[in-house]
Amino acid sequence: MAPADCRTVATRQPCDPRPRFADYTANGQYDQFAWDLFLFVSWPAAPNERGVADGSQKLGEATQVVWQTWKNVAEVYVPAGQTPLPWRRPIVPPLLEMNVEIDGRLLTDKHGQPTLMQVNQNEATFDYIVNQRQIYSRAGQAVFFTDPAAPPIDFPAAAMEVKAIWRMLDPAEQQSGKYHLTEGCYSDDNGDKQCATLGLTALHLISKVQPHWFWATFEQVDNPQTTNAPVVAPVSPAVAKLNETMQAQLAGTVWQSYQLRGSQWSFMLANQPVVLANTQIETQFQQSSSCMTCHALSSIGASNSRADMWDYAHGNVQGYVGDPPPLDNSTFKALDYVWSLRRAK
Ligand code: HEC
Repeated sequence: MAPADCRTVATRQPCDPRPRFADYTANGQYDQFAWDLFLFVSWPAAPNERGVADGSQKLGEATQVVWQTWKNVAEVYVPAGQTPLPWRRPIVPPLLEMNVEIDGRLLTDKHGQPTLMQVNQNEATFDYIVNQRQIYSRAGQAVFFTDPAAPPIDFPAAAMEVKAIWRMLDPAEQQSGKYHLTEGCYSDDNGDKQCATLGLTALHLISKVQPHWFWATFEQVDNPQTTNAPVVAPVSPAVAKLNETMQAQLAGTVWQSYQLRGSQWSFMLANQPVVLANTQIETQFQQSSSCMTCHALSSIGASNSRADMWDYAHGNVQGYVGDPPPLDNSTFKALDYVWSLRRAK
């Protein structure tokens, strides 16, 4: 049986658009693919499973969604580089992290509260890191770096990951129907555990449907009013139009209050470097954020070193854009775009 075409059914039943990636790209429908992938991983999750959509529930129901039941990086890169527990372990709600962005700045909301972050990976990603390549630890990554016969790191086509940002909501916002909600805890500056009702404000989503991965990023529409992040560049007119279409299809669910900021599938387009940022995740370097270029620098070198992700030639906190600077294979070996591997202990 041919795989379902999510372009017609995605909002009514769980639908994985990845088997038809080529059909989307043949029509230039990268942004549509981004939306369909977003809805697929945002489907209510089957209870007591990990990473399984529950077709008996409707999109937008107030429950955990599929990507929330993937493995949190804290379950993968565990203390002392020990072997992670197997995929099918009950989900312990992850301790969220304060959203200290990769340039070292903490993004706060309008009330001065920290925004919170979580990075999760699906089973194919987890299985490759843990079972196939044993690169969940620094020791395992060192073996990969020093062994000249080790095949390159090359995640399977089924691999997906997310980076999600949450914000603490007041009671009116919790009732507004405009946020995907969760109960979450984090450790504050004093090391005390704080818990709150949170709303999803941003989601980075990547899929290895192509060798350089496919990159997409979404935001809750009220972010400019509720967080201390400026919108440096507007969403492109084509994406804005698609957002209207999708939001209309999603009317009555929380997801109508989310928008695609854009997708990236190439370093360059029409001889111009592609730039894509989420205001909540690349707040201060939105104009020099190229998901693919920066992630191409994810690598391992001697003594747990990594290629530098910043392009100092152009001043402070500037990301590389366009074709990535080549890695000298004797200094750094590429880790197939997966930057979370730097968390290995
Ligand atoms: C200047 C560098 C840089 C840019 C630009 C960047 N990222 Fe990242 N990204 C990182 C780093 C570093 C991490 C690891 C963060 C961590 O583990 O806490 C990361 C983590 C992630 C993750 C979690 C999975 C993983 O292991 O890599 C996803 C998904 C992701 N980014 C998607 C995106 C998307 C989509 C964009 C563009 C809209 C983007 N990133 C732009 C550096 C970057």
